[in-house]
Parts: sequence; C-alpha cells; structure tokens
Amino acid sequence: MAQTIAVLDFGSQYTQVIARRIRECQVYSKIYHYTTPATQLRQDGVIGIILSGGPSSVFAKSAPLPDRGIFELGVPVLGICYGIQLFGHLLGGKTAKSDHREYGHGFLTVKKPGRLFAGLPRRFRVWNSHGDRVIKLPPGFKAIGVTENSPFAAIEDLQRNFYGIQFHPEVFHTERGVEVIRNFLVGVCHARQDWSMKNFIDRTVRDIRIAVGRGRVILGLSGGVDSSVAATLIHKAVGRQLTCVFVDNGLLRKGERKTVVDLYKKHFHIDLRVVDAAELFLRRLRGVADPEQKRKIIGRTFIKVFEQSLESIGHADFLAQGTLYPDVIESVAIGNNPAALIKSHHNVGGLPARMKLRLIEPLRELFKDEVRAVGARLGLPRAVVWRQPFPGPGLGVRVLGTITRDRLDVLRDADAILQEEMMRTGWYWKVWQSFCVFLPVKSVGVVGDERNYAWVIALRVVESIDAMTADWTRLPYDLLQHISSRITNEVRGVSRVVFDVSSKPPATIEWE
Ligand code: XMP
Repeated sequence: MAQTIAVLDFGSQYTQVIARRIRECQVYSKIYHYTTPATQLRQDGVIGIILSGGPSSVFAKSAPLPDRGIFELGVPVLGICYGIQLFGHLLGGKTAKSDHREYGHGFLTVKKPGRLFAGLPRRFRVWNSHGDRVIKLPPGFKAIGVTENSPFAAIEDLQRNFYGIQFHPEVFHTERGVEVIRNFLVGVCHARQDWSMKNFIDRTVRDIRIAVGRGRVILGLSGGVDSSVAATLIHKAVGRQLTCVFVDNGLLRKGERKTVVDLYKKHFHIDLRVVDAAELFLRRLRGVADPEQKRKIIGRTFIKVFEQSLESIGHADFLAQGTLYPDVIESVAIGNNPAALIKSHHNVGGLPARMKLRLIEPLRELFKDEVRAVGARLGLPRAVVWRQPFPGPGLGVRVLGTITRDRLDVLRDADAILQEEMMRTGWYWKVWQSFCVFLPVKSVGVVGDERNYAWVIALRVVESIDAMTADWTRLPYDLLQHISSRITNEVRGVSRVVFDVSSKPPATIEWE
C-alpha cells in the first residue's frame, strides 16, 4: 500500500499549496475533507496527518472539527494555524478567542530544535494569519518555538508525535518553510521520498480509467500548455474514447492549426476534430472596434461553435478541461483578472450542466511548473511545454480596432518573423511573451524610389513572473534591427516597425 500523508482540509486557501510542498519533498499526499473518518485514513495507509489552516474560529458554532479518532491512530499529526488551535481545543488545553487577526510577518525563535526544526537557524522569518491562539498547552505538549506575540507558536508532544505551529510553513513568505515540512515528513513520519511526476502520471491515468469506464470524453484543445497536457494524459488513459475539438476561429497565428493537427492527430494519434469557424467569427466581428465587445463576441461564438461540434460528434459523457489550481484561486480571488476571463471562456461556462456532462480536470491540483513537468514527461515537445501564453481571443485583440482578413494576414506574417527570430536567438524561452501588434494607422515609407504608405507593426516583448506586472525586455539593438528590417522587407503592407517600451503598470501586456 502506498505511503500516504493525509492533508485534512479545513478550508484553508493554502491547502493545495501544502500538497504542493509535500510533492516538492517527493512524498505522496492526498487531500481529505476534514470530516473523513479515522478508519478511512487507516484503510488508506496514512502514515502522517497534516491539519490545514482554515478561516474558521474553533469557537464558531459551525466550526469544522475532525473525527477525534485521528488522534488515536498512532500516526504523527502536524497542526498548522487552525490545526494548532484544534490541539488546544480538543486535546485538553485552552485556545483563546481573539478579536483581531495576527496577520503578516513575524520571527520565530526556536527554543528546542527537536525533529521539526532540525538543521534550521534559531530564528527565522515566518508568516502568520490567525485569529484565535493557544493560551494553555494540552497535557503532554511543550513549547518549542515562540514569536513576539505567542509563547506557544510551535509546540510538540514527543510521546505521540504531535506538532503544532501557529505560522504557515507552506507559504513562500515563511523562510525555510519547506524544510519544516520536510522535517515533519521525513524526520517525524519517516516517509519515503520516492514520489515523482511519473507516479503522478501513473496514478492519474489509473484514476481516469476508473472514472471514465467505457464512457466518452470530449476536450476543447486550444494548443496551450494546459489543454495539451490534459489531452495527452487523458489519451494515455482512455485512447480513442477521447475526442478533442480544436476550433479555428480565424484569429490564430501563422501555421498554428497545422502544428496542432500534426502533433496531436499525426504524432499522438488522438481523435482530433478541427472545426473551421473562421468565417463565422470574422462575420460576427465585422465592424466591431471596441476591445471588450470583441472579447464578448469571440467568447460567445466559441461556446456556440463548441456546443454545435459536440452535437455533431454525438453522445459524450465527460467534458475534460485543463484547469490548474491557480485558475481555481484566481477566478475566485481576483475577479477582474483577465486570466479568469479566459477560463470562463475556454471553460465553456454552464455547458457541462446543460449537456449533462461530468467534468474531468486531471490537472486541478497542479501548479503551472508541475504541469510543464508532466507535459515533458509525456513526451510533448519543448515548444508546447514552454509555450508562451496566448490570449483566448487570439489575434482578435492584437489587430487594434476593426478586424479584417487582410489585417490579420499582415499581422500573422510579421508575428511569424518575430517568433522565428526569438526562437533562433533563444530569446523566446527567456521572456514571458513576445508578439506583434497591428496598428491601424498608415505611415509613409520608401521602397526603392517609391513612396510607400502602409501599416505600422509594434513589437511587444515582456518579462514577467505572473502577468500581474511586467517589464519590457531589453532586446539587443542588433536583433531589433534585424527583426525590423525583415518585417518591412518581407511583409507587404508594412512600412514601419516600432518597439513598445511600456511596463505594466501603467500599460497592460496586450494593447487591447
Ligand atoms: P494584460 O494585457 O492584461 O494581460 O496585461 C495579462 C496576461 O493575460 C493575457 N490576456 C488574456 N488572456 N483572454 C486570455 O485568455 C484575454 O482576454 C486576455 N487578455 C490578456 C495576456 O496575453 C497576458 O499574458
């Protein structure tokens, strides 16, 4: 039986981050609802339990409480934040209600390194976010760490291997947090560090097979990292029971459709249906210049086309999506984030319920870099695994103002040159995004002896960590020169190339 660390979820926004940190330690974990009976954990071969934090107070009427049997299983328990208060509350100590939350940085002073803080400095920065706090230790417990505000910031019961910490070791702001978690997993629970992305793939493939049975799965493939990895993983599990739908909305980059067909249909032998809907999209977009209006039209048309394609495919039982964990938080936490927008558009809204489809989201617990690792392991090419983000509305928001076929063609040709040069020089992999924008203004140039009154192309190349902020990339002048002269020489209809030197904020990455 697999060695499993159980993460009992009390509603913390960081539960998935705890699971991620455990994966970073090459240990297998599973997230359980806080009500899970102890007998179930025993059956699953759980060798250690982590109680997540949570927004509740242990004094609240509906406070989430675990099955007390988990304390009798004889396995180590680490209580984080709300978890430590549960110790105080349930094991005979005392937890006090607090009117204000302690929130932000503090310093933990280690009183006794023991196994939890082995190898760590005597003082390090930690990140707190809690209301209640333990004021009297339950029998058997001793304080092993203190902060300015709490004499019981870290506690241990050596006999039972129970540990409690007031701070969040899983968040980035806690220095050495991963080591605290690793110490618990390896030093206290004696977990084997043999879990890898390969195990994730094997396990997920097995789970998908069980869930799908003989059913049929549909997936909207965009060619982006997430849907590509999801498609390849599900295909590995159920082969031809998976049908992928790729919508050509006429707003794709040069050669994009062919690349997708070559890779998934020819190379992976996935049942891929290409829906050519360019005509419909462009017709609906005719004369529309407002960016938000364009986005809405593109989003709605996508759903309609996708829905129709499902009808023509016939019966399906499951809709698969490449939703990642950050999408789940982003769409909840940051309402106006464009990333949330794309998801609502590519996730095809209320479609599953309307069409009585069950959802499959095999990447739901992973973070982007983990998805990339899975993709690489599944044999997806580097260009897919490390593909730059591309907005759902595609070139629709990169041809500024009204969209025409001619403008799209000019943009596609210019953009292909930029990408080719970025790839050739290796810059493509170093930046967050690099693309061309079509400016609907004409500018005078000369070709030979003739006046050339033609369009302007802007180059947008940015560095970023998460797209929330971005800085323009200092590309070498020689490279810019080369790109510019190639575009003006090779793309008919362009007389001038400009380079965007705006950061975000105040500018956005896309121009619309
Ligand atoms: P901005 O332009 O807001 O972009 O700085 C931040 C990131 O989001 C992408 N983006 C979009 N993605 N649908 C999407 O799927 C959209 O409507 C959209 N608008 C912007 C953009 O490419 C960048 O990575």
